Amino acid sequence: MIILGKQRIGILGMGTVATGFCKTYFMNKSIIDSKMDPSLEITKVLVKDIDKKRDVDLPHSIYVDDFDDFNLEEFEIIIELIGGVNPAFEYIKKSLESGCNVITANKELMAKRGSELLEIAKNNNVLIRYEASVGGGIPLISTINDAMVSNEIIRMMGILNGTTNYILTKMTKEKIGFETALTQAKELGFAEADPTADVDGFDASYKLAILSKDAFGVIPKPEEILKQGIRKISIEDIEYGLELGYKIKLLAIGEKSNEHVELSVEPTLIPIDHPVASVNNEYNALFIEGNSVGEIMLYGKGAGAMPTGSAVLSDAIDIIKKKKDYMGHVKAENIIVKNIGLSAYYVRMEVLDKPGVLGKIAVAFGDYGISLDSVVQRARGGRVAPLVFITHEIERAKLNDALNTIENKEYVTEIQSIIKVVK
Ligand code: HSE
Repeated sequence: MIILGKQRIGILGMGTVATGFCKTYFMNKSIIDSKMDPSLEITKVLVKDIDKKRDVDLPHSIYVDDFDDFNLEEFEIIIELIGGVNPAFEYIKKSLESGCNVITANKELMAKRGSELLEIAKNNNVLIRYEASVGGGIPLISTINDAMVSNEIIRMMGILNGTTNYILTKMTKEKIGFETALTQAKELGFAEADPTADVDGFDASYKLAILSKDAFGVIPKPEEILKQGIRKISIEDIEYGLELGYKIKLLAIGEKSNEHVELSVEPTLIPIDHPVASVNNEYNALFIEGNSVGEIMLYGKGAGAMPTGSAVLSDAIDIIKKKKDYMGHVKAENIIVKNIGLSAYYVRMEVLDKPGVLGKIAVAFGDYGISLDSVVQRARGGRVAPLVFITHEIERAKLNDALNTIENKEYVTEIQSIIKVVK
């Protein structure tokens, strides 16, 4: 039965985000309905177990456990919230080809196959929206595509993963190691039982891929994003960083020049007084530099039922009210992804505690054209001593060459950490 005057919505999945979507809708129904005509109606929900007890007030009769039970012609919007690439891709493709607009919170799918889905949507004259896939409840995608359309976006720098930000915040504030902080994050429900996607940087790199498409018009292959997680970050690095005036954050950085875009997700030292350094615990933020507006920062909850559900609902309202595509940024046809890694770097090494060692290492850096910004040496009264350097800007390949030479010197026992520095 088609209910006239209502925008029929079908939801694939009824997990955390879908529950948040429904709760936000019921909580704000009168406000939303007063602003739009026709109003929304959730008419079918795909789940694995129809009889499972759920924390949302929907009639039992709308649950189905087979996608083929969706008569797609009846829906204005299909909301995909099952996650993963398959079968989500097929469900979305079929929905778009049947004339449904689609909303998804699926970052992995949008990062890996988003361009195909956008093309299918265009060919079928419908829309696909994915605000909730990056930064949970923070309106990043709509800001980049609509509010910032008058600017060329030159640079983005973000904390796009709440789990790792929570772990690094704990390590910094409580001086505990990575494993202890990870265990606490799991106990509090911030980290998954298998934390790989978060702590090894996959989650943040999917989100950066999506932002690159929207902000720079460059769609990277997942392997083109330089990616390093936080497992190797030690308390020593955090403490030396603080001593030198920096905090360590897992930063997703995108930078555009005339010829290329650099995209990286890696632990980075950032000055303590930079706005991004003040983003703590599970919070996310994106710092964006436009060529006219200058620097702006968007901050908020990057996960959770209600924030993420609210972003999905905003997409639904946007589709129904506007029924047109984003303004968007120009597609950068000739710009390629290339990571030169021109940056300052923090290097921690262990050396023999003998006269002249610091000078010899400084000379070795100099031989490769690397100028040093800061040095910290602490005598520990033993045979070896830690030595910490912050370099001036240098290409990563050149730094690696210098460190390969330095590592082979008889007075260097180990190079322990190399971390990017944003000044
Ligand atoms: N696992 C993600 C995070 C949340 O920790 O930020 C969803 O994208």
